[in-house]
Amino acid sequence: MNKIAGAHFQLERMANISMGKVCVTGASGFVASWLVKRLLESGYHVLGTVRDPGNKKKVAHLWNLAGAKERLELVRADLLEEGSFDDAVMACEGVFHTASPVITKSDSKEEMLDSAINGTLNVLRSCKKNPFLKRVVLTSSSSTVRLRDEAEFPPNVLLDETSWSSVEFCESIQVWYGVAKILAEKSAWEFAKENSIDLVAVLPTFVIGPNLSSELGPTVKDVLGLFKGETEKFTTFGRMGYVHIDDVASCHILVYETADAKGRYICNSAVLNSNDLAAFLAKRFPSFPIPKSLPNVYGEQTYGYNTSKIRKLGLEFKGVEEMFDDAVESLKGHGYLL
Ligand SMILES: NC(=O)c1ccc[n+]([C@@H]2O[C@H](COP(=O)([O-])OP(=O)(O)OC[C@H]3O[C@@H](n4cnc5c(N)ncnc54)[C@H](OP(=O)(O)O)[C@@H]3O)[C@@H](O)[C@H]2O)c1
Repeated sequence: MNKIAGAHFQLERMANISMGKVCVTGASGFVASWLVKRLLESGYHVLGTVRDPGNKKKVAHLWNLAGAKERLELVRADLLEEGSFDDAVMACEGVFHTASPVITKSDSKEEMLDSAINGTLNVLRSCKKNPFLKRVVLTSSSSTVRLRDEAEFPPNVLLDETSWSSVEFCESIQVWYGVAKILAEKSAWEFAKENSIDLVAVLPTFVIGPNLSSELGPTVKDVLGLFKGETEKFTTFGRMGYVHIDDVASCHILVYETADAKGRYICNSAVLNSNDLAAFLAKRFPSFPIPKSLPNVYGEQTYGYNTSKIRKLGLEFKGVEEMFDDAVESLKGHGYLL
């Protein structure tokens, strides 16, 4: 089949499959946009919530997605407004709750905690009102798993879904994003249990890959910084897991569609010390001023992730080469890298 015939066949297939309507909160964000793209390609009707649907700069990339004109709606909703998600959630049979502030500054504690924790409960209170809702998929984070005093980990420990980060530890190092994600996920589990909501959580590590929007989210800016020779962020990140954005979207859809999916799912491809990441990137992309090494501020870190739970559902992870190649191509495409 030639390329054009192939594309028509794909569109026809998409139009013929009726996959029901799902809500994606924070639809214009880095991760959510890719999820919306994959949901539309799978034949779903998507109702995306954004804070300002009229902001063309923020939503144009969503309207350019294949299937968007036929099966995408964007409506306004804010995590900090009680009941704001009622109408969107009421119209859907599934909810992907992805919206959350991702701010890496240490002075934004109140806003971060309020939007993440009360915002998640606000969305779940809307979910409780919809008797036809099948499942809620929450985008949590590996920050809810790995942030503990490393001295507590045995060497080379493989962290799995039973592991929880320590709120006290995050507070002691002022990582408010970690506190927010831990408390948001814990509150969500409690609320879902009390109200019989079918909840599944996806816990991605650091997400790498193409940026659909020409505006960059906070973590994409961090990656761009590293390619421009900035060392501070990735030095403070230390050892971290990395995952391709396409695998994160697939993971959300897989746990939504798999009837017996339950609980938390760590979504990670590879774990690297920041020093090894910098050395790998400097060698693979020699035209950028990436530092060949970074100061090791945390001493020996050896933890990894056991991802057998999601792999048992059939997810195969793309490698670090592909995720960074795709990220660089996209940053070049948007004119951020030459
Ligand atoms: N990026 C990563 O490496 C990574 C790793 C693990 C987990 N995650 C999780 O993935 C999710 C998306 O992150 P991202 O990297 O895609 O960040 P992002 O691009 O900044 O997207 C976050 C989204 O949340 C929305 N949001 C923030 N505050 C809101 C509020 N008060 N009301 C309504 N919407 C609000 C933002 O809306 P506006 O566009 O209006 O600002 C934005 O669309 C988050 O839950 C994050 O914790 C991300």
